[in-house]
Amino acid sequence: MPQRPSSGWPEAAVTRQGGDGRAAGTAGWPDGAVTVRVPATSANLGPGFDALGLALSLHDVVEARVIPAGLTIEVSGAGEDTAGAGEGHLVVRAMRAAFAVLGGQPPGIGLRCANAIPHGYGLGSSAGAIVAGLLAARALCADGGLGSDGLLQLATEMEGHPDNVAACLAGGLTIAWMSPAGARCARLAPVAGLTPVLCVPPMPLSTARARQALPAAVPHADAAANAARAALLIAALTVDPALLMAGTEDFLHQPYRAAVMPATADLVSRLRASGIPAVVSGAGPSVLALTVAGTHPGPGAVRPIAAGTGTAWQVQVLDVDRVGATVGVGSAARQA
Ligand SMILES: Nc1ncnc2c1ncn2[C@@H]1O[C@H](COP(=O)(O)OP(=O)(O)O)[C@@H](O)[C@H]1O
Ligand SMILES: [Mg+2]
Repeated sequence: MPQRPSSGWPEAAVTRQGGDGRAAGTAGWPDGAVTVRVPATSANLGPGFDALGLALSLHDVVEARVIPAGLTIEVSGAGEDTAGAGEGHLVVRAMRAAFAVLGGQPPGIGLRCANAIPHGYGLGSSAGAIVAGLLAARALCADGGLGSDGLLQLATEMEGHPDNVAACLAGGLTIAWMSPAGARCARLAPVAGLTPVLCVPPMPLSTARARQALPAAVPHADAAANAARAALLIAALTVDPALLMAGTEDFLHQPYRAAVMPATADLVSRLRASGIPAVVSGAGPSVLALTVAGTHPGPGAVRPIAAGTGTAWQVQVLDVDRVGATVGVGSAARQA
């Protein structure tokens, strides 16, 4: 369980410590909080397996500050009961990793997490936690370091793949890939009016479990068909949404994952049969419908189809987050 401090946050000035524990003077660590806001992300988008990501208007907010000693964590909202405690908390692990790169750990860390991204539903909660931790730690270090390439690389190492963390950092639509020099990302602006509709089922599924369903090799013909659809999807999302139905067809992962998430596979095929381009969000089990406001069938067509399945889907009409993760100085309450 997360640790809950019984009183308010310590406001005392703190002494900066080097990574080896030696005091390094009182200058350096700020007294106040930094607040990081990270979007949920949907990876894959059908054929863009481990490459494409779309940032969504659903956010976690993390407020972090340096305290004189120890570690305090408050969690509200999603994952209140499941987020790891203490040093095992993913935001803390990411902060520790960034502080290690930036030159040393602070004497103590205070965290408040207000989470809206559900855990284990294919909406990039782990990527959001990692990005939030890295950005918070960087913002608490006056001497900077860790540029955008370094951030993406560190986040990718922690997450295991770059697609969600790239979209979380950059916002909009991202294409991520691994180069010999590390994780890379290209950012594109999706067409105006693109309206992602999210369907979240009652029960989560861990990414690790969904990955186990994938085969080690696929037929060459499937790989070739998938390459065409992935290329088409970029055209559909940035130029001509009429291509979305063809552009969201996948041959690499969704067919293999259907057996471990039958309700998800059922909703995807019902939506597609009704002319709505729908995909498994990330490793599932959420479903993402890529609708366009003002066209038919529009965002409102998703809810009645989900309601007819017999599964208690939570349907949310969202926007694309076109900004990505943001960092502010001060507490979340002061910024609101
Ligand atoms: N905001 C968060 N704070 C702490 N831990 C988190 C947070 N978000 C995700 N996690 C960790 O990541 C796990 C979910 O990761 P994963 O299985 O990849 O699902 P998702 O599709 O939501 O990223 C959670 O069980 C939790 O351990
Ligand atoms: Mg994840």
